[in-house]
Amino acid sequence: MTILVTGGAGFIGNNFVHDWLAAGDERVVNLDKLTYAGNLSSLADLRGDERHVFVHGDIADRALIARLLAAHRPRAVLNFAAESHVDRSIHGPSEFIQTNIIGTFQLLEAVRDHWSGLGEAERGAFRFLHVSTDEVYGSLGENDPAFRETNAYQPNSPYSASKAASDHLVRAWHHTYGLPVLTTNCSNNYGPYHFPEKLIPLVIVNALAGKPLPIYGDGRQVRDWLYVRDHCSAIRRVLDRGVPGETYNIGGWNEKTNLEVVQVLCRTLDELAPAAHGSSYAAQISFVADRPGHDRRYAIDAGRIEKELGWRPAETFDTGIRKTVRWYLDNRAWVEEVQSGAYREWISRQYERGGAGG
Ligand code: NAD
Ligand code: TYD
Repeated sequence: MTILVTGGAGFIGNNFVHDWLAAGDERVVNLDKLTYAGNLSSLADLRGDERHVFVHGDIADRALIARLLAAHRPRAVLNFAAESHVDRSIHGPSEFIQTNIIGTFQLLEAVRDHWSGLGEAERGAFRFLHVSTDEVYGSLGENDPAFRETNAYQPNSPYSASKAASDHLVRAWHHTYGLPVLTTNCSNNYGPYHFPEKLIPLVIVNALAGKPLPIYGDGRQVRDWLYVRDHCSAIRRVLDRGVPGETYNIGGWNEKTNLEVVQVLCRTLDELAPAAHGSSYAAQISFVADRPGHDRRYAIDAGRIEKELGWRPAETFDTGIRKTVRWYLDNRAWVEEVQSGAYREWISRQYERGGAGG
């Protein structure tokens, strides 16, 4: 049997492919456009592995998807492909509309066409799993209860609005056409192969390079953090046991302010790779202008997936962060490889004028 994964050269997608192939021998067809965020070096160890078929292409290319579905007949399609960085969505939302909304629409249409031609048993067993974010629920106040699956969607950034739109399309394709879809809404992930434009890898990479550790605004914004391999195990569980048409919140039960996250990273780095300057990496912390429209707090109530599907994260924040820091220390060649011209251009645009607002 085979599954089709989209966006499998990105952060979560490549961790998912690795996790999947470590757990069994079912083949993965991996479709990725290889944007700045997609890196074949993250899949280098799978070269020559017949269980992994990489295809360079766009989820918005309906004809390509149709050919792949006909040729490989996957039992499930898992959609990881997206533009995923909030700050980039503020500077230029077009690609977010194109991939996250139009791309998901084209993918759904190709999948619906293929699925409706299957025999009854195959049609019943087929799944379309859409990987989404907790950011669709908007921003919480300090004492509000965590997001549940029943919360109204209130996206605030071009990124979260485009993901919310894609979630609505997925829902409608189930309700209207009966496509057996599953949607997961997960909190902030961290771990190996995370592109160093997001907070955690950026702080690790900048700390080791002796550069400032930029904190937007007052640093008291709260996120829930989940180790990426825990997200992968949750997705596998939802694929196996989730009820078509339902959505599942996934989280780590780890609410932290950004400042706390950066301090934990500094302490871990102080222990594992002390700075040459002799003081703590925390001395490199630098407060910069805030992100426009910055959501104050996200928190996930992951009670449903625990109660109904029996899933809980395996890592605590401390164990996950330690694994992550060690991975970045051991994989400096990967970091260098992904820090291409496009990466350097982004960093200078985003930070050299003093913060996230520029
Ligand atoms: P990422 O930006 O690291 O990777 C995205 C991947 O999609 C890249 O490999 C890119 O080349 C590919 N891609 C982009 N546009 C494409 C297109 N049109 N066709 C085919 N491939 C395309 O993102 P990520 O952090 O791995 O996130 C994966 C998914 O999980 C996204 O849908 C994101 O919204 C969701 N998510 C992410 C987080 C997080 O903390 N990173 C949390 C919850 C949900
Ligand atoms: P990020 O990793 O971009 O994820 P998201 O915006 O999807 O939550 O950012 C996590 C938090 O860290 C968010 O509140 C913004 C903040 N942040 C900084 O303070 N400094 C930075 O340089 C970055 C990239 C993010």
